[in-house]
Amino acid sequence: MNIRNLRVEDFFLLNELDWSPLPKERDSIYLLMALEQQPCSFVAQDDEGTFLGVLLASRGANGDSIYLNHLLVHQNARGLGLGSRLMAALDDYAVQAGVAQIWLLCESETIDYYQSKGYAESYKYLTQELEQYLLTKKRVHRMVKIFK
Ligand SMILES: CC(C)(COP(=O)(O)OP(=O)(O)OC[C@H]1O[C@@H](n2cnc3c(N)ncnc32)[C@H](O)[C@@H]1OP(=O)(O)O)[C@@H](O)C(=O)NCCC(=O)NCCS
Repeated sequence: MNIRNLRVEDFFLLNELDWSPLPKERDSIYLLMALEQQPCSFVAQDDEGTFLGVLLASRGANGDSIYLNHLLVHQNARGLGLGSRLMAALDDYAVQAGVAQIWLLCESETIDYYQSKGYAESYKYLTQELEQYLLTKKRVHRMVKIFK
């Protein structure tokens, strides 16, 4: 038996594992992890404190990368620039923290939106198998914004 660090090839193993009875715990741990990422996660609210939108991101272990995990603007508040302001807040954090790049996954419908914010499609550091899996099975695109 040996213990080694996680590798990119482990994605499929983790993805195919039967995690039961863990799903609820995994959801909770994800949110707790998000709470630890306060410097790079943001909430939009109105003057009364009513929730309007959220951007949840996490900073990777070596500090170079940020992963934008969720961007959601409340249905009634869309098209008012809130998504753009949440993204701009993340950019400001990335610049002042010296982060090199922000990564995200998105569907085809939002590629244009992220391109307008300076993101470009990239599968760097992934295996070809994982790139194909994301594109054909998960139907998501991997985008990156480079800062340095
Ligand atoms: C995508 C989303 C976050 C955008 O937030 P928003 O606050 O409505 O966006 P903004 O008001 O900042 O939009 C700014 C511009 O992006 C454009 N835009 C909005 N959604 C777009 C989309 N899906 N594709 C392309 N352009 C889009 C707007 O038309 C606007 O253009 P303009 O400045 O030329 O008028 C929001 O629509 C949302 O929460 N959608 C559901 C969840 C989702 O899809 N999240 C992204 C998952 S990857």
